Amino acid sequence: MEKFYDEIRAMAPAEEPARQYYFIEQVREILKEKKTLLGRPLTFCVVTFGCQMNARDSEKLRGILEEIGYEPTESEEADLVLYNTCTVRENANVRVYGRLGGISSLKRKNPHMLVGLCGCMMQEAHVVEKLKKSYSFVDLIFGTHNVFQLAELLFRALTEDRTVVEIWEKTEQIVEELPVDRKYSFKSGVNIMFGCNNFCTYCIVPYVRGRERSRSREDILGEIRRLRDDGVREVMLLGQNVNSYGKDLAQPVSFSELLEDVVRIPGIDRVRFMTSHPKDLSPDLIRVISEHPSICRHLHLPLQSGSSRILKIMNRHYSKEDYLALVDAIRAKIPEISLTTDIMVGFPGETEEDFLETMDVVRKAGFDSAFTFIYSRRTGTPAAVMEDQVPEDVVKDRFQRLLAEVQRIGRERSSRFEGEIRQVLVENVNEQDPSLVTGRMDNNLLVHFPGDASMIGTLQQVHLDQSKGFYYMGTKVR
Ligand code: SAH
Ligand code: SF4
Ligand code: F3S
Repeated sequence: MEKFYDEIRAMAPAEEPARQYYFIEQVREILKEKKTLLGRPLTFCVVTFGCQMNARDSEKLRGILEEIGYEPTESEEADLVLYNTCTVRENANVRVYGRLGGISSLKRKNPHMLVGLCGCMMQEAHVVEKLKKSYSFVDLIFGTHNVFQLAELLFRALTEDRTVVEIWEKTEQIVEELPVDRKYSFKSGVNIMFGCNNFCTYCIVPYVRGRERSRSREDILGEIRRLRDDGVREVMLLGQNVNSYGKDLAQPVSFSELLEDVVRIPGIDRVRFMTSHPKDLSPDLIRVISEHPSICRHLHLPLQSGSSRILKIMNRHYSKEDYLALVDAIRAKIPEISLTTDIMVGFPGETEEDFLETMDVVRKAGFDSAFTFIYSRRTGTPAAVMEDQVPEDVVKDRFQRLLAEVQRIGRERSSRFEGEIRQVLVENVNEQDPSLVTGRMDNNLLVHFPGDASMIGTLQQVHLDQSKGFYYMGTKVR
């Protein structure tokens, strides 16, 4: 039988994405036979950890699986379970191993079940070693550069009697034009670049996602037009550092130029982007945002630390003063903007003084909200071997103080729109109270107001009756 399948593999076209469409057909045939044998459809479940990049990758994985003929389910009691993993902090890894622990008993109950792992954790050799040794029931392991190959890898997992492992160290290739199953019909992420070149000394992302690769302007705009034709009204341009978009292209394009092209596409009512690195945020970008109302009044601008000394060791290429000056420049041109950020405490060598500098920036910048993290040691990064790792009790104390301050300021800032009328994009019917719908303002805050499912995906004018801290209760304005 293996020989027969070897021949099928040998006949596959070499060029992409044609090769993957070929394997989609082949797996579909295998699946049809299984369905007849079992007398029921086969199901899949994709479990996603980590950031927007992973969320978008999972939409691609789902798109391919649905095209093949698998039916989606939320339950891990499925015929195919894929974990799309994250490794930015240790606790992301711990969660994956926890989930895997439970899955082996499910696998014993269902002999047709396949278990796959992909995403950032798989780019770390020690993780793959551990999986092979202690989780030998895993059928499929693939890396961040191999997402587009899912159909081919699944073909192998279904026809070979061993764990299929496919992990590229790096790639120059960008393969798109494969099926995608979007979580929301009316909004979508759009990858504009992959990878990261910044090598912040604490961060594993450049090692697991590879070097920066920008997609061509034409490909991005083409994808957005197709999304628009398919009902999408809001796009989020995705990259680890969108401000350095286009520098690597044969004909360099800046991020602000790309953004101006995107806002000119008729039918796209809202444009967001993530993430902006402070070191590369240009005055031109501030101008473009201020000139185009369809660009959301929200900027996620990770601070990491408020201490210039620590920022230098982190390799962030800006100082406390640079950051605050940037915030001032942004607010001067776009006063209504909401600023959010990422902050970490406990980077090696962080003193109480350094920490107080961070608290000072938090107060001066007035973030609408902030993701706060405890520094996590990542094997292979320069910070992991730095001396002066900060003791756990000290870090926890700083973390609590930071969190309390961030929340106090966030609550205050977020309530500043009370009594105003704002446009919201309705996302879903409220889970707790079905007489309400939940919508998102352009500054990313949520509003709950009376409505029904027919409003999902529409823009509504809503009066913000009452602030509840990090969200509002409102009423639709006729
Ligand atoms: N490219 C984005 C960040 C991606 S990772 C940027 O540069 O802003 C998201 C956040 O995780 C980072 O902003 C940082 O605050 C946090 N993070 C990254 N590595 C970490 C580590 N080793 N420990 C704790 N937090 C970390
Ligand atoms: Fe990590 Fe820094 Fe790259 Fe962000 S910019 S992904 S924090 S290395
Ligand atoms: Fe995690 Fe990978 Fe994103 S490590 S934060 S899923 S790029």
